[in-house]
Amino acid sequence: MNSEKLILCMKDISKRFPGVQALDKVSFELKQGEVHALIGENGSGKSTLMKTLIGLYHADAGQIFLKGEEVFFRNPADALKHRISMIHQEICLVPTLSVAENIWLGREEKFTQGGIINKKQRDKLTQNLLHELNMDLDPNTIVKSISVANMQLVEIARAISCEAEIIIMDEPTSALAEKEIEVLYKIVNKLKNSGVTIVFISHKLEEIFNICDRVTILRDGKYIGTKLCSEIDLEHLVHMIVGYELSELFPKEQIEIGDVILEVKGISDGKVLNDVSFNLRKGEILGVWGLMGAGRTEIMRTIFGIDKAKSKTGGTILLHGKRVRINSPSHAIKVGFGMVTEDRLHTGIFANMSVLKNITLCKLSSFMKFGLLSKKIEMEQGTNAAKNYNVKAGSMNQPIGSLSGGNQQKVILARWLMLKPDILILDEPTRGIDVGSKSEIHKQIGQLVKEGISIILVSSEMPEVLGISDRILVIREGRVAAEYDTKIATKEQLIKSAFGV
Ligand SMILES: Nc1ncnc2c1ncn2[C@@H]1O[C@H](COP(=O)(O)OP(=O)(O)O)[C@@H](O)[C@H]1O
Ligand SMILES: [Mg+2]
Repeated sequence: MNSEKLILCMKDISKRFPGVQALDKVSFELKQGEVHALIGENGSGKSTLMKTLIGLYHADAGQIFLKGEEVFFRNPADALKHRISMIHQEICLVPTLSVAENIWLGREEKFTQGGIINKKQRDKLTQNLLHELNMDLDPNTIVKSISVANMQLVEIARAISCEAEIIIMDEPTSALAEKEIEVLYKIVNKLKNSGVTIVFISHKLEEIFNICDRVTILRDGKYIGTKLCSEIDLEHLVHMIVGYELSELFPKEQIEIGDVILEVKGISDGKVLNDVSFNLRKGEILGVWGLMGAGRTEIMRTIFGIDKAKSKTGGTILLHGKRVRINSPSHAIKVGFGMVTEDRLHTGIFANMSVLKNITLCKLSSFMKFGLLSKKIEMEQGTNAAKNYNVKAGSMNQPIGSLSGGNQQKVILARWLMLKPDILILDEPTRGIDVGSKSEIHKQIGQLVKEGISIILVSSEMPEVLGISDRILVIREGRVAAEYDTKIATKEQLIKSAFGV
């Protein structure tokens, strides 16, 4: 931190929405030049607190002091004049305008002489700005044609161009891939070194330890505390977020592990995968861990028949001791596999369909009576499954797209519990999900195993893999680099295997 000077002080902020006290006397302080994490479960009030700061919402009570003086911002433009800028959770760019136009939107007068915009000057300035962010992007590119990561960087460029002294980033990394996240971290560091104060809202606790100086925790609209990141450990942090201990976060049920039911032998795809072999036992949770790009998802896609193994180098898959040649996902399902993909939004849910249909869809035939669909049975069983999985929805008929990520994932698991595959592959089942729902999903994975389903759990999160698997495979460069019994595996071993040291 550059100095200990307080730049911002929010005091006893309260904000009520119909039916919910979103903020209840929350206080929040920023020191000049720090990166300050703001964390808490979904709905704990993080976005609302920051929207209250920039004048998008107006607090019912409380005060805001900027550099010691009380301020009241009528709207975000007003906040921007005081050099506070927020990058929202949702991308807020105009897709049909160019990168440069988006960055300078509403501030064109800066380049306007005699009523004409000096585009050359604008583009030059934009170019410099993008260069600063190490972005190789033409200022005239239309925004809708660039990647989500670049859109996010354009938003950051806009914040920088306003010469913001305080930049709020609301879950900036949730839509980014590992490489892009690295770029963002570098930018955050650069901004910090130039004296900018940053509020960093995130679900990823490891990331907070990496780049933040201090962390403030909210729970249910209440202020829980502020800590130095160097002085708090993961366990303590989780405790503050959820209000209970980490050991309760990864509840592992002891289940008897049976015979080998799946043998994967020598799978190669001529690209990423190179002679991948492993097996899976009945009732087992097999963790599959590795660095980004190690080939974990590719292995699962090949087994599930989404990608085809090359015929020559393909390898074999034995299910219950019998060879199977899986050539499509529907074939995989028929022989007893299930898969929850990493990309929930595009391949996991039918966003416009109801919660009920999302659960029962694949099993409609079993609700048929005399050739007719029994809506009553469907509703009964669907409601039961949702209840079992603690899905929080107002009604079974509401579109699943309106639920939180954690609840959507619970619906998907409820669907698979109905279908009861022998083997369920879960690819990053808790990515981007808040800590409380994560814990529930871990419990539900335990329930699936109890029902006799064996699980392959692909995850980037080491605590998750160590917390709930029985055995762990470490994947490196398309191969199984190491295998550990979770009881004796350590974090250091996993990391060493992943890096090949
Ligand atoms: N514009 C709004 N209208 C009504 N309720 C809202 C609105 N914005 C947020 N809320 C509610 O306020 C609470 C806090 O939400 P939010 O600040 O978005 O949480 P977070 O960002 O921590 O996930 C939630 O219960 C949410 O449903
Ligand atoms: Mg939010």
